[in-house]
Amino acid sequence: MIDETTGALPVEGMPAARVLDEIRALRAADRPTHGGRLFAYVYDPGVAGLDELAQAAYAESAHVNGLDPTAFPSLLAMENALVGAAARLLGGGPGTSAPDVVGSVTSGGTESLILAVKAARDARPDLTEPRIVVPVSGHAAFAKAAHYLRVALDPVPVDPVTLRPAVADVAAAIRPETVLVVASAPSYAHGVIDPVAEIAAVAAAAGVRCHVDACFGGWTLPWLRRLGAPVPPFDFAVPEVTSISVDLHKYAYAPKGVSVLLHRDPGLRAPQFFAYADWPGYTMVNPVIASTRSGGPIAAAYATLRHLGEDGYLRLAAVTRDAVAGLADAVRAVDGLRLLAEPESTVVCFTADDPGLDLFVLVDELTARGWHTQPQLAYAGLPASVHLTVTAAVAPRVAEFGPALAEAAAAARAAGPVVLPPELLALAGSLTPEALTPDLIGGLAAGLGLGAGPAPDRMAAVNTLLQAAPVRLRERLLVEFVGLLQRPTW
Ligand SMILES: Cc1ncc(COP(=O)(O)O)c(C=O)c1O
Repeated sequence: MIDETTGALPVEGMPAARVLDEIRALRAADRPTHGGRLFAYVYDPGVAGLDELAQAAYAESAHVNGLDPTAFPSLLAMENALVGAAARLLGGGPGTSAPDVVGSVTSGGTESLILAVKAARDARPDLTEPRIVVPVSGHAAFAKAAHYLRVALDPVPVDPVTLRPAVADVAAAIRPETVLVVASAPSYAHGVIDPVAEIAAVAAAAGVRCHVDACFGGWTLPWLRRLGAPVPPFDFAVPEVTSISVDLHKYAYAPKGVSVLLHRDPGLRAPQFFAYADWPGYTMVNPVIASTRSGGPIAAAYATLRHLGEDGYLRLAAVTRDAVAGLADAVRAVDGLRLLAEPESTVVCFTADDPGLDLFVLVDELTARGWHTQPQLAYAGLPASVHLTVTAAVAPRVAEFGPALAEAAAAARAAGPVVLPPELLALAGSLTPEALTPDLIGGLAAGLGLGAGPAPDRMAAVNTLLQAAPVRLRERLLVEFVGLLQRPTW
């Protein structure tokens, strides 16, 4: 716990060793970032020595500022090298059909997607109400981009079986005001690759940009293809793809804070930039959202790529592919569980067909056994599901996962589905976000065990309540619940 008597700023400074001890004690409550038992949030290659290298590189450049590339050429050189590597991996660069690809290093997938939307919007200053077309399986960050940038979002449904949008529906959603059409390679939730070539073709036919969100898969699909997997064209090899995002802090296994946004040519990228000279301070030009940016994450990513190399990534992709196959078999072996999609990349996603087997209880039972999976709520005709992001570090754990899953499923069956009081369920189903009062929220949170402290060990009741609520109410409850967590310690 944080020292309640001194908070973050003690009257007298503390010795370094004690400060680090405090942080380590705090970290003990976290989910395990290493060891292959956490199937979301972290990407662990399980390569000995890589953390130490990344940490040393991070420390080397932590105080370097990306605000001005002329003052810190080291950072510019590393950024350009990362962009070049990403472009080359994704079908661009000298000798390809996309020789003029350029890009920027951002802080993460969300920033890359916001900037892809901004570039598309600002390329069309003639439109007063720009719009973007995004399959509902597209990452929520597109909705965030639309919200931040005041761009209207036109969602396209996905087929409940293939989990992909129909190309005809994408084409039908494009209007004269559309500035960007999106495809995922793959989607985060289900790990399914959209029909990128077909979607890009209908976008181009309408004169609209097409962004491929390969934040998750851009650093795995090329290696999986080299290993023989039937990966459809999804990158700059598709002539109508205008931009691609790929996160280095995901499957390039770099520490957090690095993604790359690529554009097919400098003209497409230009409206992404922001420059301002109409003030008395320094002349400002920002390729990305942040102004001051630490060189730490960029140096750490550069070191990670240099150290692992193509051979390292190929080997890690093979290990991960085999782990995915093993985990999918483990799911198939449990009665009542069903893969929602056959794995095409590095996601295993399953649902339950048996009403006696509550997925949210199953997730809690897995957590109790030291396996941390990610529940996904039912949405728009798609059932609730469990998501596993699979990384190379999972491979040595696969043999243990099968028995653990079977045991957790048996325990979930024995415990039975979550039963919330009928009046609470009725309330969740009927309440409007506007009708939520602080008292009501406080009462709900207390009833579910949510408060200022860490989340409860068992989250099935919370997930069941959220699932019972319409989408807008879900959003409001999430905001209120997290607002309860984000309170200063004095
Ligand atoms: C496909 C996809 N796009 C975008 C994002 C957002 O990335 P970030 O969390 O780095 O902002 C993610 C994150 O999982 C993702 O999987």
